[in-house]
Amino acid sequence: MVLDRVSLSMPSGRMWALTGSSGSGKSTLLNLIGLLDRPQQGQIEIAGQCVSGLDAHEAAKVRNRLIGFVFQSFHLLPRLTAWENVALPLVHRAVGRKARRDAAIAQLERVGLGDRIHHRPEELSGGQRQRVAIARALVTRPRLLLADEPTGNLDSESGAMVMSLLRDINLNDQVSILMVTHDDRLAASCDHRIVMRDGRILPPVRG
Ligand SMILES: Nc1ncnc2c1ncn2[C@@H]1O[C@H](COP(=O)(O)OP(=O)(O)OP(=O)(O)O)[C@@H](O)[C@H]1O
Ligand SMILES: [Mg+2]
Repeated sequence: MVLDRVSLSMPSGRMWALTGSSGSGKSTLLNLIGLLDRPQQGQIEIAGQCVSGLDAHEAAKVRNRLIGFVFQSFHLLPRLTAWENVALPLVHRAVGRKARRDAAIAQLERVGLGDRIHHRPEELSGGQRQRVAIARALVTRPRLLLADEPTGNLDSESGAMVMSLLRDINLNDQVSILMVTHDDRLAASCDHRIVMRDGRILPPVRG
């Protein structure tokens, strides 16, 4: 079993760091919370709703409505422009192309890329690509943003910019954030820190 006796309650509105050595189960936990995986045992509740018993179709709907994802390697589609990438999560909603485009452009402006809407990923820097990915995660107006090492592929300057953007989103858009990071300084700048080891959450250290 990858995770064992993990129990965690995250009040909304905060920014959480998830740390621990490689293989400790961070991505596994993120994928469970994000409904990309199902637990063999136990329960998950998001925004007061029990989500661990949902079938794949219902889970996809909840994921699309409540959760945004950001990954270390951006996961943008190379043939699509920035705005088309950002609009993708809206394709499954009853939203016309014009409304999708407007919503995508608004989110790109939100992350400071209003002048890059027609660029393809290869024409953008790493930090800009990650900001496109953040805009895509926000376009559905999620309650929770899950980020798996969002600054892991970035130089320190771009990483700092992405981090301050995440904090700004957390404070101003009331989005809870759970972020995996190997960077102690970034973890220390979050409101809470969760440390994993061998598939378990270590007890909090009070400083
Ligand atoms: N699909 C899988 N099938 C079986 N075991 C897996 C699978 N994915 C991960 N594991 C194992 O689960 C454990 C936790 O992996 P996980 O990817 O969650 O670690 P992590 O903390 O995210 O590590 P890293 O910092 O390297 O990303 C590891 O022992 C890993 O080998
Ligand atoms: Mg991982």
